[in-house]
Amino acid sequence: MAVTLLHLTLVFIRIADVLTTNTCISNSTYGESDPSALANDMGNETGVAVLLIQDQYKFDCCGFVYKWTFIANSTGNLTAQVWHHDSGDVYTLVGSNTLNALNPGYNEDEIISNGERIRTNYADFIGFHSSDTNIIPHVNATGNFLKLSGIITTMTTPTDWSSANTGNGSYAIKSWLTPSNAPVVTGFTNITLYNDEISVGDTVNTITASDNDLEDVNNLTLTINSTDNNGQNYFEIHSSTGAIRIKSIPPINTYNLDIEVKDPCSLSNIGTQTIIIKNRLPVIANLPSTISVSEDITSNTLLFAINATDSYNDSLTCSMHIGDSSIFQVKAIVLTTDHGVYTANSSIPFDYDNVSTYNVTIQCDDGDDIVYGELTVNIIQNQAPVINSLPDSVSLLEDINTNTLLHTLNVTDIEGDNITCVLNPNSSLFEVTLIPPSNIG
Ligand SMILES: *[C@@H]1O[C@H](CO)[C@@H](O)[C@H](O)[C@H]1NC(C)=O
Ligand SMILES: *[C@@H]1O[C@H](CO)[C@@H](O)[C@H](O)[C@H]1NC(C)=O
Ligand SMILES: *[C@@H]1O[C@H](CO)[C@@H](O)[C@H](O)[C@H]1NC(C)=O
Ligand SMILES: *[C@@H]1O[C@H](CO)[C@@H](O)[C@H](O)[C@H]1NC(C)=O
Ligand SMILES: *[C@@H]1O[C@H](CO)[C@@H](O)[C@H](O)[C@H]1NC(C)=O
Ligand SMILES: *[C@@H]1O[C@H](CO)[C@@H](O)[C@H](O)[C@H]1NC(C)=O
Ligand SMILES: *[C@@H]1O[C@H](CO)[C@@H](O)[C@H](O)[C@H]1NC(C)=O
Ligand SMILES: *[C@@H]1O[C@H](CO)[C@@H](O)[C@H](O)[C@H]1NC(C)=O
Ligand SMILES: *[C@@H]1O[C@H](CO)[C@@H](O)[C@H](O)[C@H]1NC(C)=O
Ligand SMILES: *[C@@H]1O[C@H](CO)[C@@H](O)[C@H](O)[C@H]1NC(C)=O
Ligand SMILES: *[C@@H]1O[C@H](CO)[C@@H](O)[C@H](O)[C@H]1NC(C)=O
Ligand SMILES: *[C@@H]1O[C@H](CO)[C@@H](O)[C@H](O)[C@H]1NC(C)=O
Repeated sequence: MAVTLLHLTLVFIRIADVLTTNTCISNSTYGESDPSALANDMGNETGVAVLLIQDQYKFDCCGFVYKWTFIANSTGNLTAQVWHHDSGDVYTLVGSNTLNALNPGYNEDEIISNGERIRTNYADFIGFHSSDTNIIPHVNATGNFLKLSGIITTMTTPTDWSSANTGNGSYAIKSWLTPSNAPVVTGFTNITLYNDEISVGDTVNTITASDNDLEDVNNLTLTINSTDNNGQNYFEIHSSTGAIRIKSIPPINTYNLDIEVKDPCSLSNIGTQTIIIKNRLPVIANLPSTISVSEDITSNTLLFAINATDSYNDSLTCSMHIGDSSIFQVKAIVLTTDHGVYTANSSIPFDYDNVSTYNVTIQCDDGDDIVYGELTVNIIQNQAPVINSLPDSVSLLEDINTNTLLHTLNVTDIEGDNITCVLNPNSSLFEVTLIPPSNIG
């Protein structure tokens, strides 16, 4: 039994939801179909408020009352009302229009201007209030109404009608409805931003929501409806200003944000805001460059420090894109975030006579894009050492002791390399040895 009740409740809620979104049909009417037929049945009461809680006077759509038709017994004013049923006997006043009776005994139309109209919704009801003598006639009929008396000041809302008299009958008033206009959203421009110039909270663009119904202009909701690259995770829209802001830093991508504007009748339109987030490319400031290195440079030696920067993401990685990896390597310079071009860890087969110039293409990657730069390495030929003190002849005694200095070789090398001297052909009688501490052998 409990299960059945729950089931019924759910069904009821679903039906109610569907009905609230009905849009009113143009010129549909709610209330007494022919007010003039009720012309001759008058009460004689002051300060009367009547709430017509019957189907004829019950709205079932979302729209606006743009016209009231009524008949009055005498000239005077009354307040036409729309009430929303909260619960029990409590109703909220949705809105009211003051009607001025000028032509008693005849149907009178009163057009309500755009901006002053009352919005209707499902389960709202027509009522009216006369703080003076009631001027709206009624006839006995089956439908119920609630009637409060002695109310001579403006009504408060919400109002508890539990003290009202109930009666059966119709009052000579009806409403004419017009559907709500769908709002529109404008001001979309294609926007391109670089990832190094955006922060959370930045306004990317401000769009404009508008509605021909003046009652709606301050009551439009804007939402991002986007399944494109999860744009709704990175951008948000502020309903009252139309500002599209960055909610969290978006990855590099193109975001087509579907932005929906909706009015209180759930009428909507969608516009598309395109936002392209680009990566700012890393920069290799000191390439291309040319360097010269000695032919006999040793292994694992830093030849060139790469000056590469990225304005967005500093974790740049540089490596060798094109080059001879048996000769060069590109790697991080120890204890820095920079990278350098080094000689390879193996012994370096530089040979000026064979290859005198190398090109090394370096790539630096910021995680989104790769840039390239070229380093030209010229090899400086290793000059042969020069013997400055030869040729010479030395006379020596036949019985000279072993290990006697015969001649000092003065040998110099332009690169300051270590020099070794040997006898050629080798001899068992003579030898060449280094005289410490200098490079003179
Ligand atoms: C609804 O009524 C108004 C006022 O009489 C009129 O101007 C309008 O054209 C009507 N609209 C339709 C759709 O009949
Ligand atoms: C309305 O009632 C008042 C007193 O209650 C009376 O003087 C007046 O004549 C009545 N008017 C009508 C139109 O019945
Ligand atoms: C009725 O309302 C009109 C304006 O809507 C006002 O000028 C007039 O004084 C009012 N008459 C009475 C009797 O309250
Ligand atoms: C106003 O009501 C009285 C009493 O019902 C009726 O005699 C009179 O004809 C009505 N006047 C008009 C203009 O309808
Ligand atoms: C309407 O009903 C009331 C109370 O039931 C009665 O006094 C009155 O005479 C009726 N009026 C008409 C026109 O039938
Ligand atoms: C934005 O760019 C896209 C793709 O380039 C294009 O189709 C669209 O018309 C552009 N929109 C605006 C408002 O310029
Ligand atoms: C976006 O629009 C689609 C189709 O109009 C709808 O099915 C979906 O629920 C909407 N999503 C959001 C987040 O509004
Ligand atoms: C906006 O519309 C909603 C739904 O009709 C209503 O509850 C709310 O009071 C309205 N707000 C304004 C400022 O009109
Ligand atoms: C790297 O290059 C930039 C731009 O030319 C320069 O400002 C900066 O001082 C350089 N850094 C080094 C370490 O040379
Ligand atoms: C290095 O690059 C330059 C310019 O691109 C080119 O002229 C040269 O031939 C290249 N040298 C080698 C050894 O590839
Ligand atoms: C070696 O020869 C060079 C060049 O002739 C000379 O400048 C230098 O003084 C000499 N060194 C010694 C130690 O003789
Ligand atoms: C020359 O030899 C000395 C001693 O062996 C060594 O310390 C030095 O590094 C060498 N220099 C070069 C340029 O090879």
